[in-house]
Amino acid sequence: MNPKPAQPPAASPYGTLPAAPPAAARKPISLPRLREMHAQGEKITMLTAYDATFAAVADAAGVECLLVGDSLGMVCQGLTSTVGVTLETMRHHTECVARGLRRAQATAWLIGDLPFGSYHESKEQALRSAVVLMQAGAHMVKLEGGGWTTDTVHFLVERGIPVCAHLGLTPQTVHALGGYRVQGKGDEAAATLKRQAHELQDAGAAMLVLEMVPAALSAALTTELKHCATIGIGAGVGTAGQVLVLHDMLGMNLGKMPKFVHNFMNDAGSVRGAMQAYVNAVKEGRFPVDTQHAW
Ligand code: KIV
Repeated sequence: MNPKPAQPPAASPYGTLPAAPPAAARKPISLPRLREMHAQGEKITMLTAYDATFAAVADAAGVECLLVGDSLGMVCQGLTSTVGVTLETMRHHTECVARGLRRAQATAWLIGDLPFGSYHESKEQALRSAVVLMQAGAHMVKLEGGGWTTDTVHFLVERGIPVCAHLGLTPQTVHALGGYRVQGKGDEAAATLKRQAHELQDAGAAMLVLEMVPAALSAALTTELKHCATIGIGAGVGTAGQVLVLHDMLGMNLGKMPKFVHNFMNDAGSVRGAMQAYVNAVKEGRFPVDTQHAW
């Protein structure tokens, strides 16, 4: 009797996660690998992710870092700012993303965003909050602000928690900043931002998101910071890597699209295709374009 030909796996409903890539295809992204990319000048790609399926698809598209950003408050919860996002919500979404990556045997580096109020009281409170996200599956935590956050960053890094800092437009302080505006304009503001960035690097931050910062300032900082990879969003092409909010780059922003976003879905036939186009454009230095997407 002839053996039955092998059957493809049965289709499963509700957004099947992509097949795992061959084991040797890609090494897991680790902190040493990110440092190596930074040292060699290879651009680092990052997108936000809030659920299992998008996370697995982004990984399959070659995105190296996934940020479970508190932007999920606006994107997933319909809030008007990130201020109302809780640690429990961040824990839940971090766990969803981590589960998606595990199921797809994915390789991306996972960053959990500490929400407003979860690290402001004390270093000890920050540690407790960071532990929640790390135990949910994050490899690194992100927190906003400079100056007062430096000691906290040092405290977390000393305890084995990799940290991504965030300067420029820090959305959790939107009310103090008076809106979503470019930061670091003018000599004094630029000098403060530079000083804070160096302090954060010295405290051990391995990455630094620069949001809505003039392109010339972020390019200069990127050259100066040898041990901390700058990740730009609205900060020009001269940073060590780029990040975008997933829904924005897929053209799912029904409001006014920020100037620094490009809709990668326009020329792509699929979400995965759009993500691959983003990865290629960042790697090749074709996105962002300073004259179009930056200040
Ligand atoms: O919350 C978020 O998604 C972020 C990115 C915009 C960097 O902080």
